[in-house]
Amino acid sequence: MSTLQWGGRFGAAPDAQLLAFGSSLDEDLILAPFDLECSRGHVEALRGGRIVSEAQAAQLTSALEAVGLEIRDGAFANFARKQTFEDVHGAIDARVREIAGAAGELLHAGRSRNDQVATTLLLYAIDRAQAGAKHAHDIAAALIARAQKELELGTVVAGCTHRQPAQAVLLAFLLVAWSEPFLRSVGRFAGVGRAARASCPLGSAALAGSSLPLDRRQAARALGFTLPSRNALDAIGNRDVALDLGHAFVRTLVDASRIAEELIAWSAPAYGYVRLGDAASTGSSLMPQKRNPDPFELVRAHAARSIGAYAGALGTLCGLAPSYQRDLQETKSATIAIAEDGVAVLDAFERALAAVSFHRERMARAAAAGYTVATDVADALISAGVTARAAHALVGAAVAQAELDGRALDASDLAQLAVKAGIESLQAPLDARASIDAKQTHGSTSPDEVRSQIEAVSAELASLARQLA
Ligand code: ARG
Repeated sequence: MSTLQWGGRFGAAPDAQLLAFGSSLDEDLILAPFDLECSRGHVEALRGGRIVSEAQAAQLTSALEAVGLEIRDGAFANFARKQTFEDVHGAIDARVREIAGAAGELLHAGRSRNDQVATTLLLYAIDRAQAGAKHAHDIAAALIARAQKELELGTVVAGCTHRQPAQAVLLAFLLVAWSEPFLRSVGRFAGVGRAARASCPLGSAALAGSSLPLDRRQAARALGFTLPSRNALDAIGNRDVALDLGHAFVRTLVDASRIAEELIAWSAPAYGYVRLGDAASTGSSLMPQKRNPDPFELVRAHAARSIGAYAGALGTLCGLAPSYQRDLQETKSATIAIAEDGVAVLDAFERALAAVSFHRERMARAAAAGYTVATDVADALISAGVTARAAHALVGAAVAQAELDGRALDASDLAQLAVKAGIESLQAPLDARASIDAKQTHGSTSPDEVRSQIEAVSAELASLARQLA
């Protein structure tokens, strides 16, 4: 039996090298269970339209079930790899024809690989969006659990901008900040799932719909879609969901990568804020003392790689007329690469995070250094009636003098500032904890605010978990 689903109009076989060049089997074999599901939906469309008899539909269904078993035990992959198939879709069709005999020849009636690929890719996207959402949820939940603990311990850390000490913050506050993008990612993945389920391309055939009375509603319902897609031409060339899934993964990996970068810096002895446990550290083949944060470095690199794959998929689409062009095959492999790698990276990131322990003493020392209370002192002057510009200049000068003296801002500075500002006395926070406690705005690092941030994120996570279940 030929591995090709076409050929009647050709006089000669294709060039073997070109056939291999055009094959996407290596990349799309992973779609086998989803193509099988899609084929189950097509049998419903054939049955509902009485294009096949009940008996033939039953034969097709049991052949698909048999292929399902072969996919699970690896026999199907061996079958597919032994010959040059154009893609997994052709390989499944061939195997069904082998198993179901004459009835198998009917499976592809009214179907094109164009609507088949589009539908299979949506089913895959639904599955991977769920996996992405679960990982993003679990990472956020782990960060919030740690925030809760650090809030109880009152751990403080120097909040930085430009990597320079800016203002002291609670470590719990920073951990909540790290969790927020993952919460947003869960929403993004959920949106991908919703969009994917909204509209089923199956039955759009090659581009124009079919002259066979396919029951598209029945197929869409059987596969868990809300409705059949509206316009066949749009449906077969549409890769919106694939791109949105790619985007959701790329964004999540970029967020993971930013935290990875922070932890890589923090694990260097110069910072010494964290220690990455043995389970997540690697050594050097030459330098016996080394302890390297490789998993976090690899998260960074994989994030960059996924941006490249995503840009590739976008680039592929931008030159294509709105219909099926063979180039679309490459958006399939890019989507699979991003999603499979994305799930693996998020899993590794979650494991590496669990191996991080905090050096709280070291963080506390750094939080007090670097004049991180200067803004609170200026705020105190403003509260006493000094203008913002004048307060900034006065405190700036006090910092410059303290720096010359090699000391922190202290009570003597407050007394001198009061004199210069023409006020009786000045009270202002002079240590990290007092600075944190002085914060009054909604969303700030004050302990009460951080407590309510943790409560709000936890409540959102619990409701998202219910939606994901
Ligand atoms: N292998 C192609 C893909 O996966 C399917 C090609 C279908 N259509 C066609 N007209 N050649 O996208």
